[in-house]
Amino acid sequence: MAGFLRRLLRPIRRELAARAPLSVGWVRRDDASWLAAHFQGTTFRPPAPPQSALIERIAAETEALGQQALWEGYAEAYLRDAALPWAGKAMTRSSEQVRSQPRMGRVFAWLAATRRPRVIVEVGTAFGISGMYWVAGLEQAGAGEVVTFDPNETWHAIAKGNIARISPRATAVPRTMEDAISETLGGRPVDLCFIDAIHTSEFVRAQLDLILPRLAPGALVLLDDITFSDDMAACWRALAEDKRFRASLALDDRVGLLELP
Ligand SMILES: C[S@@+](CC[C@H](N)C(=O)[O-])C[C@H]1O[C@@H](n2cnc3c(N)ncnc32)[C@H](O)[C@@H]1O
Repeated sequence: MAGFLRRLLRPIRRELAARAPLSVGWVRRDDASWLAAHFQGTTFRPPAPPQSALIERIAAETEALGQQALWEGYAEAYLRDAALPWAGKAMTRSSEQVRSQPRMGRVFAWLAATRRPRVIVEVGTAFGISGMYWVAGLEQAGAGEVVTFDPNETWHAIAKGNIARISPRATAVPRTMEDAISETLGGRPVDLCFIDAIHTSEFVRAQLDLILPRLAPGALVLLDDITFSDDMAACWRALAEDKRFRASLALDDRVGLLELP
């Protein structure tokens, strides 16, 4: 009975959590920046995209698939750094364990709908939950494409099907971003990039270095899990202070936003 009630109340609890405002933590504020114009208070409450209920239904179906094997690249990263929070733990994850939560998904959809990017690059598709929010926003904008990379072929196949149920505005690539970005994008500039793959400064900095020359003026870069470890927190702090960006803020101490001049 208690389990039945918990399952019944889960969508209501999730919706209430999705409506709670996110905290806005400025690191470098430039009053003339896009970020300053759009994040004016100490909290931010993103609107839900029209497909949010469908996205969360698809997410629940994906979670019901249970634990799935991680991409083998993680074994190497976890072996190299025993201090990582998940190092030495099981090499499987369920969708719920790796996905962006609905509140942050709503931020992604709002960013895509408001900024109307031509190209969004996502590093780390996983099961396509963040990808569904990106394309929901692109549908609202009526333009744009998300190009999302993930070398985990099983997860890629699930994600591709999930995202296609929301919109055709995505290209999911079953390879690492490092390996496939040139071939996939050619010379197309990137207006928004979301780095959500292996959360260590080594990987994040190398991926950012690869993306930076491809970014359009004024582009946004988002980094997920900026407090995942001391290493990630230091990485975020250094990038947020980096003068190559005109402004930087953190949402809920979880996702860092960097704005290019
Ligand atoms: C935290 S999950 C991504 C979650 C997803 N963005 C979401 O919010 O639903 C990280 C994913 O990054 C992928 N990954 C790891 N290294 C990668 C790389 N170099 N390029 C692309 N994807 C990578 C992993 O296979 C994993 O699926």
